[in-house]
Amino acid sequence: MKVITTIKEMQEVISQFKSQEKSIGFVPTMGFLHEGHLTLVNRARQENDIVVLSIFVNPLQFGPKEDYADYPRDFERDRALAESEMVDFLFYPSVEEMYPNELSVKVTVQERTDVLCGSSRPGHFDGVATVITKFFNIIMPIRAYFGKKDAQQVAVIEGLISDFNIPVDLVAVDIIRETDGLAKSSRNVNLLPKERQEAPVLYQSLKAAEAAINEGERDPVKLITLIREKIRNDSTGVIDYVQIYSYPQLKPLEKLEGTIIIALAVKFSKVRLIDNFITNID
Ligand code: PAJ
Repeated sequence: MKVITTIKEMQEVISQFKSQEKSIGFVPTMGFLHEGHLTLVNRARQENDIVVLSIFVNPLQFGPKEDYADYPRDFERDRALAESEMVDFLFYPSVEEMYPNELSVKVTVQERTDVLCGSSRPGHFDGVATVITKFFNIIMPIRAYFGKKDAQQVAVIEGLISDFNIPVDLVAVDIIRETDGLAKSSRNVNLLPKERQEAPVLYQSLKAAEAAINEGERDPVKLITLIREKIRNDSTGVIDYVQIYSYPQLKPLEKLEGTIIIALAVKFSKVRLIDNFITNID
């Protein structure tokens, strides 16, 4: 595995593989790798000749009051994990390398930003779409791997790819969880011990909603109430949102129909956690 820190070198390497018609699979991350990330890498490894993993904590997607400074980082640990997963190139640029100047053109996400994380994190998806546009142009992958844990991110990037005719196939991978159900996240290390014990309630509340759906419940308001009550009763976390929409359109629903997402975000003292459940309703 080779670590590359400059855009110029990354582009030189990529153009060499492109001329050999090698398929390039790309996994963008912000590092502090866990099994969720490694599952994406593993999938990319199976499906492509060359695997590029990026680690970049993108300041553009963090709000002024968010955890950019506290976001966990451990490059040496990540490097060893990437190596053991047979990554070919670890792209690890600095902030100055990615954003040497104030951007003169911005990528603005128009749709799907007034709901879920878009409404609680204004500008977040503009920052994600901007950095992903840059990465796609630098790495020119044929496939890019994203986790369904960030289901809104998947929908937004699908929109970016489609609207801008980017020749990349987005591969969306299922959520990887701890044994107690908590969705794996780099941010989980910033939970206090008591909060870590409570955090599986996010998943449990989604499972309770799933059970209610299986028993015939079709009213989004009732399901949202059920989830909210469970989280309130079983944790000290503060609910940011619990919402149900059509997926991937992210439009409100009066009655559950078609493919839907139940998504939630809960704030603990230093961390905000998200989780979701996507299902098909006949
Ligand atoms: P990050 O949070 O590091 O996540 C990188 C990728 O790993 C994302 O596609 C995310 O959905 C996926 N992922 C994280 N936890 C997962 C889990 N438990 N199961 C499955 N997949 C999981 O998402 C970002 O970084 C950034 O927004 C990024 C796309 C890199 C742009 O900066």
